[in-house]
Amino acid sequence: MHTPERPPQPQPPPEGHDSGNPPDRRSFLARASSMGMIAGLGASYGTAGLYAARYLYPSKPRDKAWMFVARIADVAVGGSLRYTTPGGEKVALARQGSAGTVEDFVALSSTCPHLGCQVHWESQNQRFFCPCHNGAFDKSGKGISGPPGDAGQSLPRYPLRVEGGLLYIEVPTESLEVADASAPREGHDPCLDGGAPL
Ligand code: FES
Repeated sequence: MHTPERPPQPQPPPEGHDSGNPPDRRSFLARASSMGMIAGLGASYGTAGLYAARYLYPSKPRDKAWMFVARIADVAVGGSLRYTTPGGEKVALARQGSAGTVEDFVALSSTCPHLGCQVHWESQNQRFFCPCHNGAFDKSGKGISGPPGDAGQSLPRYPLRVEGGLLYIEVPTESLEVADASAPREGHDPCLDGGAPL
C-alpha cells in the first residue's frame, strides 16, 4: 500500500533571528527609549539637578574669589543677611557671636537639601529653619530634625574672612551657562508655590 508523502514542516528560525525586529533595530529602539527617559528626567529636575550635579561632580576646579559682604559693625549680634553669588547660589549669613572676629559668623547655602526651599536663621532658637517641612539645622548647618535631620543632610558652608572690620566671603565666580526654562523664578519656592504666578 502506498503511504502519502508528508508535506514539509516549517523550520524554526535560526538563533537570534526575528523577522519583524532585527536585533540592530531593537537595540537602537531600546537605546532611544533610555535616552528619552534620561532627557525627560533632566527636564523635570531642571536647574536644581544641574546645581547638584555641578556641586557633586565638578568637571574642573571652580574659579573662586573673595567678595565683600558687609561691614561687621553693620551686622547685629543674632542678625542675619542674605547673599547671592555671581553664579546665583543663595547664601544665608548669620552673626552668632559678639567678639568682632570671623568666628562670629557662619555662611551657609540657604537652599534646603531636602526639596530646595529657602532656609533662614532663627536667632532665638539658634538654628537655621526650613518652613516647608519643618526642617531644622544647627548653628553649623548640620540637619537636626525634619527630613534633612532624618536623612543626615547638611547645608554646604562658605569660607569667610574679616579684614579691617569688613566681612568677605569666598564664592564661585562663574555663572550658570545653561538657560533653563523650568528654572525657578526669583522668589519662587517650589514647596509653597505650585507654579502660579507670584
Ligand atoms: S524642603 Fe526643607 S524640609 Fe523640605
